[in-house]
Amino acid sequence: MANGARILLIVGGGIAAYKALELIRELKRRGHESRGVLTQAGAHFITPLSIASLTGDVCYTDIFSLTDEAEMGHIELSRDADLVVVAPATADLIGKMANGLSNDLASTTLLATDKRILIAPAMNVRMWLHPATQRNVETLRRDGVTIVGPDNGEMACGEYGPGRMAEPVAIADAIEARLKAGGNIIALPPETQLRPASPVQSPPPQQMMSRANPKVASVPPRILPGKGPLAGRHVVITSGPTHEPIDPVRYIANRSSGKQGHAIARAAADAGAKVTLVSGPVSIPDPAGVEVVHVESARDMLAAVEKALPADIAIFAAAVADWRVATASKEKIKKGANGPPALALAENPDILATVAKGRKRPRIVIGFAAETQKVIEHARAKLKKKGCDLIVANDVSPETGIMGGDLNAVHLVSADGVESWPSLPKEEVAQRLVRKLAEAFRPA
Ligand SMILES: Cc1cc2nc3c(=O)[nH]c(=O)nc-3n(C[C@H](O)[C@H](O)[C@H](O)COP(=O)(O)O)c2cc1C
Repeated sequence: MANGARILLIVGGGIAAYKALELIRELKRRGHESRGVLTQAGAHFITPLSIASLTGDVCYTDIFSLTDEAEMGHIELSRDADLVVVAPATADLIGKMANGLSNDLASTTLLATDKRILIAPAMNVRMWLHPATQRNVETLRRDGVTIVGPDNGEMACGEYGPGRMAEPVAIADAIEARLKAGGNIIALPPETQLRPASPVQSPPPQQMMSRANPKVASVPPRILPGKGPLAGRHVVITSGPTHEPIDPVRYIANRSSGKQGHAIARAAADAGAKVTLVSGPVSIPDPAGVEVVHVESARDMLAAVEKALPADIAIFAAAVADWRVATASKEKIKKGANGPPALALAENPDILATVAKGRKRPRIVIGFAAETQKVIEHARAKLKKKGCDLIVANDVSPETGIMGGDLNAVHLVSADGVESWPSLPKEEVAQRLVRKLAEAFRPA
């Protein structure tokens, strides 16, 4: 399915619109066809002609354009693709999508589509971190929209932080992962099957709006907190890196972004669980509906996990530093004539083994193993040594782009054997993992 897919690319009005042109090229290089929709604001940044030239197709801009509607109306446009992609997804488009608004071709197409949607947000860091945007993004995640990025970095406006659109290659990777994951059509509930419009079958307008006609008005049920397959379960999850202080201003860290652990926390909350997320220092927002405990070091993380127990499930996705500086200096270490200081290291507590072998062991304990070689061999050894039920192993060699990236290719290593999943968006990995947990807790 990933080969030769048809992508409907909606380009919003942001500085990153120029990268949409590179995305079209990248998709073409990979054998996919694109068709473009450009918002009015988008047309201030790039021209419809650039998109049309690269896609080899009309670039659609206006919902009331008779020509376009004659060639392809917005409903057909929204359905005649394998995946709908929004890049850049502006704060405005995200807000419209989250609230079901449709006042132009892009937003109407997004509301009318029966296809999966992937968005690549791009905006100023403050716009991205604004609670309104974060609320809207959370709503979209819950609606099943795949979100790629944004990346951290310097913005065109000179500020630094999360908000840069993911690079076209990363978006194309996520598009292929989304296509491979399947389920590209969003089915309506059986009672709302679409029927061809006919004067006899169409209910009168007032009836379509009426609550007295739930068959027409109903939408696919969304899991509410407290409901769902993990309702009544407590899940403790660790995420992100740890920072091990050298002195008050310096620390030892690693490249973990927290994206995978946070996605699992979100997916578990969506499945109705009570979730405690113990997060190391990350630059991504706290997931909604989750109790988040922010910590710095491995020792703080262990203390927070122990405080959060008892739990039914513990998932240790954090990249905990194996070592810390044995005695961190209370004052900033000064550069001196004696050359660089020698840093004596001490081993950090093993959070996974401590909990898996501890008195308050949750029924299911899952560890993560980030390896750069012999991934499965090391995961098998870790499974035995730590006493957990499952190791989620991945290859974090720099060329995989997994550490800090949006995709993950994991192997589930348990006493039953190894199950390998293809490269998937981290949200998708999280949802699959939570579905497995839900199966384990399903009443016999
Ligand atoms: C120079 C300039 C750059 C902008 N960059 C962004 C951006 O990167 N992200 C964003 O969400 N909005 C950005 N905006 C604001 C949007 O263009 C504005 O909200 C617009 O209404 C979005 O329309 P659309 O969502 O229909 O494309 C920018 C505006 C200007 C004038």
